[in-house]
Amino acid sequence: MKIIDQIKSPVSNELEKFDSYFRSVLKTNVGLLNTVIRYLFLRKGKRIRPLLIFLSAGLVGEINERTYVGATMVELLHTATLVHDDVVDEAKERRGLLSINAKWNNKIAVLLGDFLLAKGLLIAVDNKEFEFLQILSEAVRLMSEGELLQIQTSRENDATEERYFEIIHSKTASLISACCEIGCFSATDNFVARGKLREFGKLLGLAFQIRDDIFDYIGKSSIIGKPVGNDIRERKITLPLIYALRNVSEKDAKNIVSLVKTNKKKKDIKEIINFVIQNNGIISAQTRAKELVDKAKAILLDFPDNPYRQSLFKLADYIVEREK
Ligand code: IPE
Ligand code: IPE
Ligand code: MG
Ligand code: MG
Repeated sequence: MKIIDQIKSPVSNELEKFDSYFRSVLKTNVGLLNTVIRYLFLRKGKRIRPLLIFLSAGLVGEINERTYVGATMVELLHTATLVHDDVVDEAKERRGLLSINAKWNNKIAVLLGDFLLAKGLLIAVDNKEFEFLQILSEAVRLMSEGELLQIQTSRENDATEERYFEIIHSKTASLISACCEIGCFSATDNFVARGKLREFGKLLGLAFQIRDDIFDYIGKSSIIGKPVGNDIRERKITLPLIYALRNVSEKDAKNIVSLVKTNKKKKDIKEIINFVIQNNGIISAQTRAKELVDKAKAILLDFPDNPYRQSLFKLADYIVEREK
């Protein structure tokens, strides 16, 4: 059995049931929208966020209807932000297929993203889950701020490690943290457990984005299902490059940073990737991600041992070791 299937095994029935629920909420009367949504369903994502919700709920109590509501909301909001993100990043591929903006156009992608976002939030209202609504609206606000801070940072040329963490905390860790908190809250009123799982999710989310940023350098687009080298093309300075720049003279660092800021050809992108690999950028970023995961796993020790906890331990490792 693949490691990810082992991780999913305590909640595999729940994930299946979630899948049909997720599909059923996206019915509409607009033909074009149905066509685009059908296309969206051709490829599933990894479903890491629903998985975290179900495992967090199981860790502290019984998985129940509220857990499904939370999982559906989160996967809708996540999908909405990916559809928008591909417009922002001008990315042509997602989950091994053309992105919505590439297959149709930016207008349709923006409107589909809005539709998914509205649906995600409405599910909370329909089910009177106002606390879910608050937690997730806050996460979506942070995600938008993170995406904008990322653009601001690349414009103003002030990428630092501190700024990088601020960006990924907002754009990625906020939602993954919300998953663990909501999963927990769906199954118990224990406030202490909820705070601990929120922190656990934050640490995992940071590590998750660092691993994703490493893929941009050394991933294979046929495996990860999205373009590589896109961050550099978009002038984004992520952790592998920040760490590599520390290991060279000021002059060499300046040269690489100005190359990142220009309109680059294929060979320039290759040169930047090689620079990062040769100056230990990948190894250092990977080490940092592992440290975050170790901190996250330490939090789990406060919870009783059960199959959900065992899966969460394995999921934490998977997040920094995964190949896609
Ligand atoms: C991609 O998330 C966006 C990031 C936060 C890096 P996932 O890698 O979870 O995307 P899917 O849902 O599996 O496609
Ligand atoms: C992740 O950003 C998208 C959000 C968290 C909104 P990225 O642009 O880094 O992720 P990918 O590589 O396109 O999935
Ligand atoms: Mg992107
Ligand atoms: Mg992006």
